[in-house]
Amino acid sequence: MKVHVPAGSSQCAVVVGCQWGDEGKGKIVDVLAERMDVVARYQGGANAGHTVHVGDREFILHQIPSGILHPEKRCLLGNGVVLDMIQFFQEYDALLERGVDVADRVGVSLRAHLLLPYHRILDRAVEDRAEEKIGTTGRGIGPAYEDKAGRRGLRVADLRNEDRFRELMDRGIQRARARLQALGMEGDHGLEEALETVLALRGRLLELATDTGIEVEEALAQGKQVLLEGAQGTALDLDHGTYPFVTSSNTTAAAAATGVGVGPTRIQSVLGVVKAYTTRVGNGPLPTEFDPEMDDRMRTLGGEFGATTGRPRRCGWFDAVLARHAARVNGLTGLAVTKLDVLDSLPQISVATGYRTPEGEVEEFPADTAGLEAAEPILETLPGWEASTGEARSLDDLPTNARKYLDRVEELTGAPIEMVSVGTRRSQIIRVA
Ligand code: IMP
Repeated sequence: MKVHVPAGSSQCAVVVGCQWGDEGKGKIVDVLAERMDVVARYQGGANAGHTVHVGDREFILHQIPSGILHPEKRCLLGNGVVLDMIQFFQEYDALLERGVDVADRVGVSLRAHLLLPYHRILDRAVEDRAEEKIGTTGRGIGPAYEDKAGRRGLRVADLRNEDRFRELMDRGIQRARARLQALGMEGDHGLEEALETVLALRGRLLELATDTGIEVEEALAQGKQVLLEGAQGTALDLDHGTYPFVTSSNTTAAAAATGVGVGPTRIQSVLGVVKAYTTRVGNGPLPTEFDPEMDDRMRTLGGEFGATTGRPRRCGWFDAVLARHAARVNGLTGLAVTKLDVLDSLPQISVATGYRTPEGEVEEFPADTAGLEAAEPILETLPGWEASTGEARSLDDLPTNARKYLDRVEELTGAPIEMVSVGTRRSQIIRVA
């Protein structure tokens, strides 16, 4: 039988979102990073927004792994990431200004694709004109991954030869301009200046360039602990999410291996992060979505506004159908439940155990997104605890009904709970394993 290794003590752990992103992965990674030597991001780009509270300081990180807030941890951006150099250095310099020692601690994969200014312009232009809007973050993610899959992207390694880079980016600019023109957007869109801005950062980025696969492999060989950090969540995965209302990368755990450049056999544990309820930004189905009044109430209780775009998040009950799907497609070995405290004041709390669809009742997450839009959740209602959980540091400190709620979440999801977050502060965490 396979021995269960909790994420905190495993040599190579993945942390993955199990809903529509915003599960509170930033806080979980921050807590786990204490025990890790290396933290590596494996996909996504500046669409992510990881909020971490250290003392009374709030940090919102978009591209740099939240491990950076722990001294001496090595933080990597893997080849699966699409790197927005301009935004990356803004974030890097802002950390420096706030006294975070980033020098020699950040590495960027030579194989990572560059997200260039024209990707952002294209993202917004396409979204503005789409008949069925995805509700993207407007950070250029879709167009950058399109170029990668279309084998016309530019990678960090291409920066080594300036002339060649100019040539390649110039081609990218011409292509982007033609596409913008076809969308009815004439003009030069400042793309030539953008080329110079990118080139001005070339030297700085090359200093950070590395082979993340080799680094991770060497760290593991030296007995170090490595955390592979996902962005967004399972329901936003390009293959396993609510397509087409997804992001343009594989967010799920298997992508962690490809996205940093190690084999899947290196991964020992996969910690799935779920919020104690559900939220979603952007369009697409959300089967357990609240009515407008309850939606407003939860948004206020949980401060549910996007860390990247400030958009209000849609809120709903915990969806165990999705959580089970996530447990399976990620091969979860453990679960971290976040924001339990947000439910403290509710007299009753529901969870979806299945869906009623036009084809009958289902317990598996449907592949058919239109069908999912029509699905009604089958809700099970549990009594609330109506007491504060923010000071709990062990499961025994929790009110009985809060424990019962967690037991039910664990049972329905099928993965053992390893951590419960009960507030925004680093200390507000219950470690079960
Ligand atoms: P994109 O990744 O910007 O292309 O956006 C595609 C979808 O993913 C939209 O619904 C976004 O709101 C959503 N999304 C992207 N990044 C995040 C995130 O970090 N948290 C939550 N939703 C996200």
